[in-house]
Amino acid sequence: MDASVAKKRRMESSNGSGTEKDSDQTSYVETTSENGKTSLMFGLKEEVGTLARTLKLFEEHNINLSQIESRPSKRNPGNYEFFVLCEESTEKLDSIITKLQEKAVYVHIMSRSQKENSSSVKEIPWFPRKIKDTDEFANNILSYGSELDSDHPGFTDTVYRARRKEFADIAFNYKYNTPIPRVTYTEDEIKTWGTMFRELTKLFPTHACREFNHIFPLLVENCGYREDNIPQLEDVSSFLKDCTGFSLRPVAGLLSSRDFLAGLAFRVFHSTQYIRHGSNPWYTPEPDVCHELIGHVPLFADPSFAQFSQEIGLASLGAPDEFIEKLATCYWFTVEFGMCIQNGEHKAYGAGLLSSYGELQYCLTDKPEIRRFEPAKTALQKYPVTNFQPVYFVAESFEDAKDKMRHYAASIPRPFSLRYNAYTQSVEVLEKKQQLKDLAQSIKGDLSILIDAVNKVN
Ligand SMILES: [Fe+2]
Repeated sequence: MDASVAKKRRMESSNGSGTEKDSDQTSYVETTSENGKTSLMFGLKEEVGTLARTLKLFEEHNINLSQIESRPSKRNPGNYEFFVLCEESTEKLDSIITKLQEKAVYVHIMSRSQKENSSSVKEIPWFPRKIKDTDEFANNILSYGSELDSDHPGFTDTVYRARRKEFADIAFNYKYNTPIPRVTYTEDEIKTWGTMFRELTKLFPTHACREFNHIFPLLVENCGYREDNIPQLEDVSSFLKDCTGFSLRPVAGLLSSRDFLAGLAFRVFHSTQYIRHGSNPWYTPEPDVCHELIGHVPLFADPSFAQFSQEIGLASLGAPDEFIEKLATCYWFTVEFGMCIQNGEHKAYGAGLLSSYGELQYCLTDKPEIRRFEPAKTALQKYPVTNFQPVYFVAESFEDAKDKMRHYAASIPRPFSLRYNAYTQSVEVLEKKQQLKDLAQSIKGDLSILIDAVNKVN
């Protein structure tokens, strides 16, 4: 077997079991009010003047408070918890709730009965609402970055370690909506890339799915995909934005599953920029620029695959921890190791396959077991991290996989529905009648366009 891939898998699998964000970064919204009054509970970091600033906020919005209580938070040490009873219905508190959500580590909107038993209120993990919120977690890496484990091939190589520090600094300093700094790759780095590029491209015509083979030449043409050139993340990101709105964001190492999947909800792919150690081009204990650019990027330019990836991301927002693990497993068996069937033949579309010379050949032999992709079942499948996969899941098509993911996402226990607003690149929590009316209007508008177009085509 290809030991390099095995090790890589071990690291990537930590996406499925990594520590999550600090537990104090939570928010909870439940639109319940009684008799025209609304109770709010929210947590704020313990700082001088916190209470005064908060009360000022209510005053500025002309909201009368009939009760206010505060206490140190038991759930989130270091925070203060506030309970306020407002003389207004929830609808009239929209703007103040929005502001509180920006400041508070969590906000509960609850009825009196819930207040009596507030410990039973189930919290929902914090999740980004706007694409810019990716700045909040992109540096929460679990491992690597510029620090290498003792068994990393570059551990004793001081030149490689210094190089990794340069890449880590780029990622740590990166902010949303700024150009990704260009890197001048060294001759050795280009040689490593070239070896992979040369060998893998020989297999793609027969082993990769149709969509991948359609897009790959476009990357050669537009982004400098060549044996003697490592493409720049900025160029690739611009290309993806033009195709599907996907973008790349440099990352120094592995993110938790929750953070990584949250990026996908906004069509943001956290991509490494460094390259594996040159001692063995087919061995890497972690994702690197070869894996990202050769394995992942091509299909993010495909509209159906992009939508499918985003569905996994959207399903993860605010999902309970056990579902994050299940979604990460679905991600593993699709985006990383997915296969599909085209013209009666199995083809690879997962990035872990398309960036591994060994496993790309193995997956099409009769050795592994092939099963149909069914998110509810796939999500429970255990997988080895030190061998090639004994089981692969086959999708009928990206459209079919997307529909199944949507259906599966509906089973995730979340007390709200989400919708991605591509105009504002934000997720909307659908919890008010007006939002539903707006959505219905938007769908109605699209339907009119569809009917008109169908009539004209006919
Ligand atoms: Fe990957």
